[in-house]
Amino acid sequence: PIMKEVSGLKHLEHKLKEILNIQEVIIVSGDSDQNELVKKEMGRACASRMKKSFTSNNIIAITGGSTLAAVAEMMTPDIEGRKLMFFPARGGLGEYVENQANTIVAKMAEKTMGQYKLLHVPDQVSEDAYASLVEEPAIKDALEMLKRATMVVHGIGDAMNMVKRRKHDQETTQKIIDGQAVGEAFGYYFDADGKIVHKVRTIGLQLEYLQNVPCIIAVAGGASKARAIQAVMKQEQGRKTILITDEGAARALIQDY
Ligand code: G3H
Repeated sequence: PIMKEVSGLKHLEHKLKEILNIQEVIIVSGDSDQNELVKKEMGRACASRMKKSFTSNNIIAITGGSTLAAVAEMMTPDIEGRKLMFFPARGGLGEYVENQANTIVAKMAEKTMGQYKLLHVPDQVSEDAYASLVEEPAIKDALEMLKRATMVVHGIGDAMNMVKRRKHDQETTQKIIDGQAVGEAFGYYFDADGKIVHKVRTIGLQLEYLQNVPCIIAVAGGASKARAIQAVMKQEQGRKTILITDEGAARALIQDY
């Protein structure tokens, strides 16, 4: 029965890869909405897939969220001793400390005995503050580094869930609702067609940068995130994205086809 289950998931992976039009799909069994352990398994699958794509010198941009925190927990030192530099993909996004990219990169560096840099920018800065911050030499260096990222690993959030979590102001919340956003990734909110509805004003990786990134890994699961995953993958389709998800999300996604 175990072999059967494995081959069933292989079939699901293949189908989902075709539907989403991305490079690779890895599915762990179970549904992380129902069982916290499944999120840990996604973390393990992601940590091991990251290793496969490491080169001799890595700049790895990481987003926030509880799924990325689970990835960090599962990371281990690279036995080949390759250089790993972890970097937050974007600055403050209004998350709790344990879910912030800054916290997660520090954890990843600790677990892998790698290096990390932080992005110290406050959440939701005004336009004026933003304009002067991007001129700061330290920030400029950070952005240059992000443009040279060899790997981006990001979570995906359900749009309305992220709105609640980040406590956006009234105006932003309305914009996200009116735009019918369903998914969120690196501070960008997307509608069902993958179109940008809103972007949180913070320093860091811009969507355009993804074009030059050789390896993009998205990690998100739970049936409740199916629509969000689909929206974000629409934005990334045709790119070399690798999606790590769970059976709950995968089955819910496939139902629509
Ligand atoms: O941007 C997406 C969210 O950070 C995902 O958060 O992994 O806690 O669901 P989560």
